[in-house]
Amino acid sequence: MAFLKKKKSAAEEPKVLPQHIGIIMDGNGRWAKKRMLPRSAGHSAGAKVFRTIARYCSDIGIKYLTVYAFSTENWRRPQQEIDALMKLFKEYLNEALRDFQDDSIVVKFIGDKSGFSDEIRALMEETEDGSKDRDGMVLNIAMNYGSRDEIVRAVKKISQGVKKGEIDIDSINEDLVNDNLYTAGQPDPDLIIRPSGEYRISNFMLWQSAYTEFVIMNKLWPDFTKEDLDEAIDIFNNRNRRFGGV
Ligand code: FPP
Repeated sequence: MAFLKKKKSAAEEPKVLPQHIGIIMDGNGRWAKKRMLPRSAGHSAGAKVFRTIARYCSDIGIKYLTVYAFSTENWRRPQQEIDALMKLFKEYLNEALRDFQDDSIVVKFIGDKSGFSDEIRALMEETEDGSKDRDGMVLNIAMNYGSRDEIVRAVKKISQGVKKGEIDIDSINEDLVNDNLYTAGQPDPDLIIRPSGEYRISNFMLWQSAYTEFVIMNKLWPDFTKEDLDEAIDIFNNRNRRFGGV
């Protein structure tokens, strides 16, 4: 565990910094509705906050950040909203390619890329390729991601290995399942933050969050600030993590 570089006062105990934070970026629609704006305006505002918070996490020394941008269930939304989100992803990906050039952030997309257009998929691959040799924070952007789908894929990959005689059934264990998830090789999230006051996991990192601390905040994602992230880390610091022990 690392310690937060920014201490608020000399008298304060150094904080334990979560190694891996997950964020369910929720509340864009309600934020827009409150302002009588289309839902797409909420997503644009949410995208700006995402960039600020991702950079802040990297600045304070977080090693892994996973953000939930689009779930396997989000395709059920009205076509107009999906089109607006795809346009936003395209703009963001185009900018990210330039934006992250002077940065150390490693960008990964977790989820089923085959659900996106050729153009978006190519941009995702270009972004991943252009950042893979960096040594900074790993930013997982979950797009067309569903944790049940991720687990089903892992089961299929392992079953294929068994069928080919490459995997012995008795050697199937938690490590092997981990190795077949999108987050292979990464530590589990220590902290998952859900703004907007909803008490749900919404198919996000089900396997990986077995011992994660959840912090629900009563703020819509477009209103979320660096101070809110600090507060979530403070709440995390006051939790007593026992991992099933006493
Ligand atoms: C959930 O809020 C949010 C989404 C489904 C989209 C999240 C996307 C962004 C924040 C855009 C930024 C991402 C990238 C990679 C550019 P909601 O629409 O369900 O809000 P509601 O619950 O208030 O309706």
